[in-house]
Formats: sequence, C-alpha cells, structure tokens
Amino acid sequence: MRSNILEKHFFSEAALDRRISRPSEQLVELVSGLNGDFAILGIAGKMGVNLGAMLVQALKKGGVRKTVYGISRFSDPAMIKAVESWGVKPIKCDLFDFESVEKLPDANNVIFMAGRKFGTDTDPELTWALNTIVPSNICRRYSESRIVAFSTGCVYGFTRPGFESKESDTPAPVGDYAQSALGRERIFAHYAKTAGTKVSLIRLNYANDLRYGVIRDLIEKINKGETVDLENGYVNLIWQGDAIRYSLLAFNIVSSPASILNVTGPETVSVRCLAEKLGQLLGKKPVFAGTEATAAYLSNAGKSFSMFGYPEVPVETIIEWSAKWAMSGGRSLNKPTHFQTRNGSF
Ligand SMILES: NC(=O)c1ccc[n+]([C@@H]2O[C@H](COP(=O)([O-])OP(=O)(O)OC[C@H]3O[C@@H](n4cnc5c(N)ncnc54)[C@H](OP(=O)(O)O)[C@@H]3O)[C@@H](O)[C@H]2O)c1
Repeated sequence: MRSNILEKHFFSEAALDRRISRPSEQLVELVSGLNGDFAILGIAGKMGVNLGAMLVQALKKGGVRKTVYGISRFSDPAMIKAVESWGVKPIKCDLFDFESVEKLPDANNVIFMAGRKFGTDTDPELTWALNTIVPSNICRRYSESRIVAFSTGCVYGFTRPGFESKESDTPAPVGDYAQSALGRERIFAHYAKTAGTKVSLIRLNYANDLRYGVIRDLIEKINKGETVDLENGYVNLIWQGDAIRYSLLAFNIVSSPASILNVTGPETVSVRCLAEKLGQLLGKKPVFAGTEATAAYLSNAGKSFSMFGYPEVPVETIIEWSAKWAMSGGRSLNKPTHFQTRNGSF
C-alpha cells in the first residue's frame, strides 16, 4: 500500500508544505547530477516556494552543495522569509529590467515561472510585454544554461474528452493571455534554436494545492451556495507536489530545439461529478447552472507518465484532503483560477 501518501488530513500549513515539497528518489538522483547552481525566476507566486523547497531538499538528500537562488520582485515582502526558511537565497529583481537581469548570479539551471494572466483585459499590452520581453531578457542572460520554462495548457484550443491535446498538436490559443503565453514559448524556442540554449516548455493544467486550485474554487462556491457553472464541464487536475516534481524532472529532457511536456493528471474530470463529490463531503448540495459544452481545455500528459511514472497523489485523495482542509478552517490563498473562463478574457 502507498501508506506514505494516505495522510488523513494536515494539521498545519507547515505540514502541508512539507508534504507538497517532498522530493522523490528519481528527482534526488537527477538534480544531484546537474552541475552548477539553480535560479528560480518568479519564485514568489503560488508554486515557487514549494518548488524551491523540493529542490533544496532533493539536493540535500543527494549530498551535494549548491546554491538555489529565488528571484522575484517580492511584491509581497513576506515571501522573502518564506523563501529563506527553506534555504533558498532570495534576490529582489524585476525581470522586465534587462540591466537588473544582467547582474543576476550565474546559474547553470534555470526554472522560469514569471508571467502575467489576470488584468489582461484592462492592459493587454502589459501582458504581452511581460510574457515575451521577460523571457527574452532571461534567454539573453542565461543562454548557456538549461532552462525549464513554465507555460500553460491554454496554448491549445478546446478539445473533447477522449481527444485531449498532445504536445505534437498545433497550438490554437484564444485571447491575449493564451496568445501571449504562446509568445512566451516561442521566445524560449527561438533562443533554443538560434543560441543552442537547452530548453523544456511545461504546459501545465491546473495545479491543486489545498489553498488554491480548481477544487478549492469549487469548495468556496458550494460553501457559499453560489452557482457552479457547468459550461466548462471537464478539467484536468494535478497535485501541486506532482506538478512541481514533473517540472523539475524536465531538466532531464531540456534540448535544442526546445522540448515540450504536458503536465497534468491522467483523468479528465467532470466538473459536475467533482462538485457532487465535494458536496457530499461538505454536507452541502451544489447549485448548478448551464450545461456542459462539448469541448474544454484538456491535455494528455501520457508523455510525462511514460518518462517519469504516474502522479504520487491521486485526484480522489486531493478531493478528500481539500474538503477536510476547508472544513477544518484551512486557509485559502483567495486566488481563484477562473477555470470557467472560456473566452480568453482574464
Ligand atoms: N498554478 C497553476 O495551476 C498554473 C497553471 C498553468 C500555468 N501556470 C504557470 O506556471 C507558472 C507558475 O505558476 P504560479 O501559479 O506560481 O504563478 P503565479 O502565482 O502567477 O506566480 C508567478 C510569480 O512571478 C513573479 N513575477 C511576475 N512578473 C515578474 C517580474 N517582472 N519580475 C520578477 N518576478 C515576476 C510574481 O511575483 P512578484 O510579484 O513577487 O514578482 C508572481 O507571483 C506561471 O507562469 C503560470 O502562468 C500555473
């Protein structure tokens, strides 16, 4: 039995963070064998601190001494302490400013996580600028490094359950955010092609922590008696720890030209069934609106499973943990995913 993953619930955020950031043996072996230091760019968001923590612990377990830099603007100064507490060295930097980027320390291994999504409707120009000029700054500064760059499954068009998008499918992004995310990919791919930079692009669909994600969004709606819109009727979900683990394992497949890896869970989950299950656990009946459209943002992550194995935490477990966490007053980041949005408007 996978007794190591069957915790009934978490009593504290510290315990939750420890669980999310536990590295696998496969990861320990991989990162310990990479020469040079690490830089995590855009560390101060929803995933970065957990990613830094997993990386530091993997390096420690592997018995190697390397510096892991955590770089962000640190718009929330509390994140500096959070980063430091795991042994990551924080550096304040606006990656939009090339003069500042030029002064960043050398790092053979770069994880790129910065991006802009929300606010695109009111200032699409800024979204395009950040999502394309920042990657260009990074590629110029770190052209000799290995780069794992986060992207999104939104670069694909909608597809029906059973026809989930594969890495070889032609992108068809809808709206400025998704189009600029493809722009971000194209900049990294351009430098991979022309400068020989070794790159892997991570097309992620919906990481789930207990404090944010599609499941937490639905819990909030059900608890408040708000309607759950069913038009975007199907989603792919993945445990935050697994999303981070696959993304770091992508250092194994960085290449020139750039490689692409879909990162998400193996199931295509019905939003209606998910909300009903959550409703049972929470003791509240969800209120539904609309009907399922035939297609949604869905990705096939079979390539990642064949290379790195299946996720450690199944979706059923994330659902149970999330309900228990919320019922016991566990904190929400109050950062909704807006996964119901289908017109590209963020
Ligand atoms: N979480 C998911 O389920 C999911 C799904 C699909 C794609 N992704 C992608 O995966 C990446 C990581 O996800 P996330 O949820 O952690 O993203 P996030 O919460 O948006 O965090 C990204 C962080 O990057 C930093 N940043 C933005 N612009 C910057 C700049 N100019 N200079 C320095 N730092 C900057 C910001 O922190 P500061 O304000 O402190 O600088 C921000 O909090 C993102 O690119 C996201 O688009 C995530």
